[in-house]
Order: sequence, then C-alpha cells, then structure tokens
Amino acid sequence: MPSFETIDDIPPNSRVLVRLDLNSPIEDGEPQDNRRFSRHARTVQDLANAGHRVVLMAHQGRPGREDFTSLEGHAELLSSYLDRDVAFVGDVFGDEALGAIEAVDAGEVLLLENTRMCADELPEEPPEAKAETAFVQTLSAVFDAYVNDAYSAAHREHASLVGFPLVLPSYAGRVMVAEYEANTAITTRDFDGPVTMVIGGTKATDVIEVMAEVGDLVDRFLLGGVAGELFLRAAGHPVGTDVEGSELYDDQWERNHETIERVLEERREEIHLPTDLAYEDDEGERAEVMVEDVDEKTTAFFDVGSATVEAYAPKIRDSEAVFVKGALGMFEDERFAIGTVGVLETIGESDCFSVIGGGDTSRAITLYGLSEDDYSHVSIAGGAYIRALTGEPLPGVEALQKGP
Ligand code: 3PG
Ligand code: MG
Repeated sequence: MPSFETIDDIPPNSRVLVRLDLNSPIEDGEPQDNRRFSRHARTVQDLANAGHRVVLMAHQGRPGREDFTSLEGHAELLSSYLDRDVAFVGDVFGDEALGAIEAVDAGEVLLLENTRMCADELPEEPPEAKAETAFVQTLSAVFDAYVNDAYSAAHREHASLVGFPLVLPSYAGRVMVAEYEANTAITTRDFDGPVTMVIGGTKATDVIEVMAEVGDLVDRFLLGGVAGELFLRAAGHPVGTDVEGSELYDDQWERNHETIERVLEERREEIHLPTDLAYEDDEGERAEVMVEDVDEKTTAFFDVGSATVEAYAPKIRDSEAVFVKGALGMFEDERFAIGTVGVLETIGESDCFSVIGGGDTSRAITLYGLSEDDYSHVSIAGGAYIRALTGEPLPGVEALQKGP
C-alpha cells in the first residue's frame, strides 16, 4: 500500500496550509453541525498544539447553488471543537488573505474563504495544470508545508487538492489517513470470511454502479432503500415505481435497469432482496406488507420490513467485513427507521470489520443514539467512498502520495 508522510513528520514551527472538507448542509445561510467539524478538529488541534502556524482552506457548495456560501460560520463551528479561536478572512489568496496569513502566530488558526470563490479552483484538470495557477503559486510561496485532510473531496481534481502537493512538501492529516485506510480496506485487506455490502439510500445510480464493479471483492449484498425496490422490480414485483409526487424510481430505473437485470442474473445467489416493505397506512401508522403480496403499485414504501431485518441479521453476524453504503429506509422519520437502525445495531453488536459510509447513513448513528465506537470506521465521505469501494484511485490521494 502506498503510504503518506503524516502531520507528525512536519518540521517544527512550520507555516502549514491545510485542506479540510467542511462542505455541509446549509440552513438559513448557516452550516449545520456534522461529523466533518469534529473529525477535522483533531487534525487542526494536533497541528496547533505542535506549535505550527495553521491556515485552513475548505469549500462549500458550488457557484450557482443555494449552498454556495462564505465559510465565516464554518470557522465558528470548527472553533467550538477546539480549545482556541479560528480566525476567518473573507479572501482566498488576495492581499487581504496574505495579510491575515502573515499575522498568524505559532499555535494560531486561520480559515480562508471558500476556495470555490476563486476561479482557479474548480475546473477539473491534472495536478500539473493546477500547480501553475495563480492560486497555488501565490499561496505556496508563503507556506512551508501542505496538509491534505480532505479525503472526502479527493475524487475532485481541484487546485486546493491536487495542485499544492506538486509545489510544497505534503502530508496527510489524521482524517485523510483514517478514511483512506478504512475505505480502501475492501481492496487492500484479505478477509478470511464473507464480505457483505449493505446497499441502500436514494442515489440508486451510484450504488448500482458499485455493485456492477466490485466483482469478487464482495460475497453478498443486502439491499434496501431505492436500489432495493428497483431490484425487486427487476425480479418481477410491482414496486419501485413513482407514486404521487415521488421522483426517485422511474428515472433511475430507466437509467439503470439493464445493469440491474444483468447484475441480478449474474449474482442471484449473492443478492438478498427485502421480503417485506413498510408504508404509511390510513391512520398515519407504519404498516408492513410481504413483497409477494404486493400485486399492484399504489403505495409508496419508506422502509424495509421487520422480516427483512430479521433475515439480514444472521448474514451480518457471520460476515468478516461489512461495508454499508446507504440507509435501508427514510430513517429521519422514526416510523421508517427500523430497517436502517436494525441493521446498524446488528453490525455494531458483531465483531466484524465494519465501515459505515455516506453522510446520510452515518447521521442515523447520531440520531438514534448508536455508538460510533461499535464500528471500525464511520466515514465522512460520500462520492470518494463510492470510488474507494470499487478500487478506483482518487486524484487527491495520488497527488499526496507522489509528492513534488
Ligand atoms: C462532498 O461534500 O461530498 C465533497 O466535499 C465533494 O463536494 P462536491 O460534490 O461539491 O465536489
Ligand atoms: Mg462491531
């Protein structure tokens, strides 16, 4: 496995430029607290404690989207996880930013403005091109070291991720190391027993691609969520069709049904589909129906049923490793959390190697009081985790491993 130099290898008293991933849900213009803040805080705390001058960069949203905001609120949230302030400057690499960077003392922390507010950041280009941008050239001149902690953004070929490693001595942060090791375990580790993948969520296109590409790395799949219903549809059941107002199924079916049908045929023995599903009855209560008894698509389903959770449990218990990608139901609504929470509980109780991926799924851990310590790793990565599961290299990781 190619390895990194880590923040423990940085020479003392360095001026360190650190890329974090603080990209978060935004409500009323403010970032909502999530694991990314508490996780990256460990890297920042260690760098500041070591006496470095710490300057942070991160992105939020994309130009043109509603969640494309300043990082001022992010600085405040991050500092709530540290024993010191995080200063903020509303500039990425102009004179104002350079002045603020110059003023940072040993052990102090400064966050620069949203990297995506500078034109050099976004177009995806090879590291060599990114390294020549004014953004990278200007900032690298005032730093001794670059740290990438943003594993969850490492699938993007953006300047702040792939440009700096070519021009500055570069190191992996705590999050980068932990995410890389856990998320690539599926390709880098030899597991003695069955490797199971739990597949769910609403972005079926992504997870179906993973199923089509993992090959021998995975021995069995336990399905739920939108992908579960689409596979049931391929197996001949009248589910996975949009009903009133829903726009999750038909479009993703159109795009993926050939892959679904092929994967289902090739791996029928290894793919486990829900045997029952949950819906909202006339009284607004959770109700369940056996899949074999559904003969007309008139109801929307929001969770797998209890029989499915029971059937999945022994398959999890005899697994050597379990990788979760996506929730089994709409767990934000307590009535439809049984599938997701039930499966997470079983994984937590078993002593298998386990990675819980995707911001959404891991939110269920917090929401329902499960303990993060019961899992080998709870990932803060979405798109990067998907790529890791299929063994696809991440440009941000490769740039860091190669160095200047
Ligand atoms: C994420 O939030 O998943 C990463 O930060 C990547 O963000 P992006 O999808 O906007 O590039
Ligand atoms: Mg466990």
